Amino acid sequence: MTKTVFVTGGAGYVGSHSAKAFAKAGWEVVTYDNLSRGHRDLVKWGPLIEGDILDTQALTQALKEVRPDAIAHFAAFAYVAESMQQPEIYYRNNVAGTMSLLDAMVAADVKQMVFSSSCATYGVHEEMITEATPQQPINPYGASKMICERMIQDYGMAHDIASVILRYFNAGGCDPDGETGERHDPEPHVIPLAIKGAMDGTFTFNILGGDYDTPDGTPVRDYVHVSDLADAHWRALDYLDRGGASDIFNLGTGRGYSVMELADAVSRVAGKEVPRVIADRRPGDPPSLVASAEKAERVLGWRPERSDLDTVLRTAWDWFQKEAS
Ligand SMILES: NC(=O)c1ccc[n+]([C@@H]2O[C@H](COP(=O)([O-])OP(=O)(O)OC[C@H]3O[C@@H](n4cnc5c(N)ncnc54)[C@H](O)[C@@H]3O)[C@@H](O)[C@H]2O)c1
Repeated sequence: MTKTVFVTGGAGYVGSHSAKAFAKAGWEVVTYDNLSRGHRDLVKWGPLIEGDILDTQALTQALKEVRPDAIAHFAAFAYVAESMQQPEIYYRNNVAGTMSLLDAMVAADVKQMVFSSSCATYGVHEEMITEATPQQPINPYGASKMICERMIQDYGMAHDIASVILRYFNAGGCDPDGETGERHDPEPHVIPLAIKGAMDGTFTFNILGGDYDTPDGTPVRDYVHVSDLADAHWRALDYLDRGGASDIFNLGTGRGYSVMELADAVSRVAGKEVPRVIADRRPGDPPSLVASAEKAERVLGWRPERSDLDTVLRTAWDWFQKEAS
């Protein structure tokens, strides 16, 4: 029997790629999004219900009508710098929003969930990060995600909700078929900004910090292709469907690149120089975030097959070229 997944935030970057992956894996997809940061034209793999996760009544009604087998919860605000300036909107949208969703799930008797968490919950660590690494977030965004994780676990135990929490490292790249992609306004993410530098001769790419304790002084991140992240979501639902216990998984590649290396790689893929300057550090940024995703491979059978840096950058480059044309 076909199963249905209710995707909050499915009009956004990771949510729309995941909607495609769910549909390919045979799930019916219903997106619930208030379009505050998403795009109607990226909702292509099932209907869109326009609504806010903070509206518990509307959400409960939608869940009672759709009767999904599982929730995939992407809806959130996700910008580190913005969270340093306006923590209140992060705690409201992410924490109160997730609580509202959990209340609606209890009311509508929905028993499975996959949640988008983040490497931002870990904070500053020198070694490779496993799921057992202590969570010590250094920005409100990461803190909001950590609180959500705890709420999901507590509601899960009290109300019999099985969950998979996925801690993504840096999402990058776009759908290799060009059907969906990344569109944030303003755009705070390094890959689109470095690509903008290569595409637009007048734009200078700011590298935020050159004095970190990393090999070249610029921050190191673990870039994972968004379509690989998307695949982890249907694998997570499949795992829960087979009776898997609630669990937490890192999604990354185990390989970090500095932002300087990233800019060089964009120049290589684009065949054009990325004009760049080293600017001040951004408050809230850890020096290095690199994942061990060994557990996701072992338990979910997930492998980041499209996450070599050139594939990430080439698929992003192709998308931004198309968007600009
Ligand atoms: N992009 C990354 O590198 C990354 C890394 C780690 C974790 N994440 C997490 O993945 C999820 C998706 O991130 P993204 O980069 O696709 O962000 P995004 O902004 O592209 O997508 C978020 C979507 O949620 C919707 N939304 C926000 N608040 C809502 C609300 N109150 N009600 C209904 N819809 C709402 C937005 O309109 C948007 O469509 C987030 O939870 C984020 O924290 C992203």
